[in-house]
Amino acid sequence: RPGVLIVAVDGPAAAGKGTLAKNLASSLGLPHLDTGLLYRATARRMLDAGLSPEQDDGAAEAAALRPEDLARPDLRVPEIDRGASAVARQPGVRAALLERQRAFAQAAGGVLDGRDIGTVVFPDATVKLFVTASPRTRAERRLRQLHGDAAGADEALLEQTAQELAARDAQDAARAVSPLRKADDAVVLETDRLDADAVLARALEIVREREGALPSAT
Ligand code: CDP
Ligand code: CDP
Repeated sequence: RPGVLIVAVDGPAAAGKGTLAKNLASSLGLPHLDTGLLYRATARRMLDAGLSPEQDDGAAEAAALRPEDLARPDLRVPEIDRGASAVARQPGVRAALLERQRAFAQAAGGVLDGRDIGTVVFPDATVKLFVTASPRTRAERRLRQLHGDAAGADEALLEQTAQELAARDAQDAARAVSPLRKADDAVVLETDRLDADAVLARALEIVREREGALPSAT
């Protein structure tokens, strides 16, 4: 796919995928799509309609998202963390969201973050990154992000958050369709000791190396 740069950013919950993808997109001048938001908005619509995110009935319809569904302020709450992971197990939902994700980057390229971008959505992506950090680091990051620095130092909250992240990762990795998995040709970024700027710098190096190795690079 000469001329179209697609960067896939996958990994477990709260590893820093979205932050990296957003920063990479702005550095590279590419559009960014947070694909987790699509699953979150689908779960929100099911709950609003009085449906369980576990149920198959009505799920594919809920995945026919309108722009306003993605702009909701209430998509990053615990109920929707669980709901998104539940709807994400459904083949009908994944099929409904697949074309939308592909269409997003087909014309001008893009940076997409999620769980299956490098394995299923864009198996031919120019660059595939798999962002990870220890469960404790990820719990700290999520708590600080949502509730500030003090929450990130609260041992009881940390323990609870780490358990919730682990439960969701286990469900995401165990599902039959498009499980959370590192693509064979993805580069792992272990970020425990790296801040967001350091992760961006490393990722940009990887993109430049990869672009330099491509026959179509100018
Ligand atoms: O998208 P994902 O759930 O993987 O994580 P995120 O929402 O991008 O990042 C979670 C939090 O970790 C954000 O507040 C980031 O500022 C912070 N963070 C990071 O993204 N990368 C680091 N290397 C360190 C912290
Ligand atoms: O930000 P965080 O890592 O906590 O979650 P997210 O990226 O917003 O994704 C929420 C949920 O959507 C995940 O737990 C997955 O079950 C699902 N998801 C998916 O299955 N495939 C994707 N490409 C993105 C998200």
